[in-house]
Amino acid sequence: MEFREVVRRRRMVRRFEDRAVPQDALERILDAASRAPSAGFSQGQRVVVVTDRDMRRRLGELCGESDEDERWGRWVSTCGVQLVPCVSENVYHRRYRETDKVDESGTEIDWPVPYWWMDIGCTVENILLAAVDEGLGAGFAGTDREGWTQAKALLGIPDEFAPVGVMPIGYPLPDVKSPSLERGKVPMSEFALRERW
Ligand SMILES: Cc1cc2nc3c(=O)[nH]c(=O)nc-3n(C[C@H](O)[C@H](O)[C@H](O)COP(=O)(O)O)c2cc1C
Repeated sequence: MEFREVVRRRRMVRRFEDRAVPQDALERILDAASRAPSAGFSQGQRVVVVTDRDMRRRLGELCGESDEDERWGRWVSTCGVQLVPCVSENVYHRRYRETDKVDESGTEIDWPVPYWWMDIGCTVENILLAAVDEGLGAGFAGTDREGWTQAKALLGIPDEFAPVGVMPIGYPLPDVKSPSLERGKVPMSEFALRERW
């Protein structure tokens, strides 16, 4: 599929068929995820791949899905596979204490932007786009601090890694649009500030 078409077709999908994702498609999505950029090539991003039905269900519940949700039902766990992108801030601190990154006094930079969050966002976008390229769809669900504590324990995620979301991936069903979309897209004239703000 043309890149522009992939970008335009990407939507956060919240209804999937209860059907496995072919292994070769999953491997290509993971390959795309692993090619996201990272500051200083720190590569602090990781992805937990969850196919087990019970585990998917438990993660879905931690993200607040339920049978009572008339709009989307159990959309986080009814899918082919879930990906849980994680990132470690510590990996970045360790990398930026290496000799090519410290200043003359040997000090780590004063992080004006927490690049670890930016990098895991790049990983997430690669997953979203790669799913579309495979004729699949992907979504993104978050939870609260307690939810993440439980999800980390369930998945054995090491302390220093922070999961940022649960991404169901699968064959998309006709979607029920999010009410958030009624806000409309920010017009290009407001989004892109040419030459200066
Ligand atoms: C960081 C982030 C967190 C999000 N969390 C949720 C979520 O918890 N549940 C959900 O249904 N959608 C979630 N979304 C999806 C957004 O609602 C969606 O991207 C937005 O409404 C625009 O729709 P589109 O991505 O289909 O263009 C999240 C998106 C992002 C980028």
